[in-house]
Amino acid sequence: MMRFCVLWAMTEKLSKRGVCAGPTSRRPNGSSATDESGYPRSRRGDTTAFREVGFVLDLSERKRAEAEALVSERRYREVPMELAHSNRAATMGQLTASIAHEVQQPITATATYASAALRWLNAKPANLDEVRQALEYIVSEAMRAGGIVSGIRDLVRKAPPRKDRVDINEAVREVVELTRGEAAKNDVSVQTVLGDGLQLVLGDRVQLQQVMINLIVNAVEAMGATSTGPRELLISTAADSSNGVSIAVRDSGPGLPPAEIRRIFDPFYTTKENGLGMGLSICLSIVKAHGGRLWASANVPRGAVFQLVLPCGQAEQTLAQ
Ligand SMILES: Nc1ncnc2c1ncn2[C@@H]1O[C@H](COP(=O)(O)OP(=O)(O)OP(=O)(O)O)[C@@H](O)[C@H]1O
Ligand SMILES: [Mg+2]
Repeated sequence: MMRFCVLWAMTEKLSKRGVCAGPTSRRPNGSSATDESGYPRSRRGDTTAFREVGFVLDLSERKRAEAEALVSERRYREVPMELAHSNRAATMGQLTASIAHEVQQPITATATYASAALRWLNAKPANLDEVRQALEYIVSEAMRAGGIVSGIRDLVRKAPPRKDRVDINEAVREVVELTRGEAAKNDVSVQTVLGDGLQLVLGDRVQLQQVMINLIVNAVEAMGATSTGPRELLISTAADSSNGVSIAVRDSGPGLPPAEIRRIFDPFYTTKENGLGMGLSICLSIVKAHGGRLWASANVPRGAVFQLVLPCGQAEQTLAQ
């Protein structure tokens, strides 16, 4: 705000002043103001007194604006650094949580196979065929855990996924085997309806299996938490009209509250006492990195359905060829 006032200064003392800047004056409301003042002079006759028209510019606003600009400029410079830091911290947090989340399953499987191997070894007589088989499983689970860790690192680095030619039906069958124990423990019956002649998907086989495992484990956990009704899990695959392959995981659990449906894919969103809330956010990152889509909706007559569509790329051979 610029305050402008007219002064009639009658003293010589005042007349000697041309332009002055900087004194602090009081405003009518008592607040202080930094002024810049000047006096266009007009001599009135030959008297020594000057009749002067003075003006006072209240520069408080300007000074404040300058100070604010300085602060905001500094903040502007610092914000990207803060953001970069918090992004890095968030990424590190998500990376750690993702790895912890995803390697849990192969580690558990490895421990189970190792215990089985010891049992077969301690049997009288020892069953070496079973021991060999268990050791082979351990090796493949350890390799899978290694693949998961490097896959998550690639996801965070936003590196493009590997380009294996993935037979989705075969990948689903393997995953169903891997999660069979968990389903049985929760009294869940598992059914698969796999489409014929699906195209191969170009992508990271381990990552795509991680997606399916997470969706299946969620479905089993959701049904395991309900006490009523049959617990049915249906995993289906089909050719998608957009030249891709679609996969659906349907359960007969409590379903998703419509208000929460958007948030379930957020990292660290969980309604479970022991959940990390990372499963779906990892699924979404993987599916997006493969150029696909993932979404959730209500199943009929009850429960939830998670669907994903993966593109197959051009000129991909189908299994039938
Ligand atoms: N099949 C489902 N039925 C009902 N709710 C589900 C289902 N799948 C996911 N949700 C909801 O979405 C939330 C987020 O799932 P997400 O897999 O990301 O994390 P989580 O399962 O809670 O924990 P984590 O997977 O890290 O152990 C769940 O806590 C649950 O509320
Ligand atoms: Mg989960």
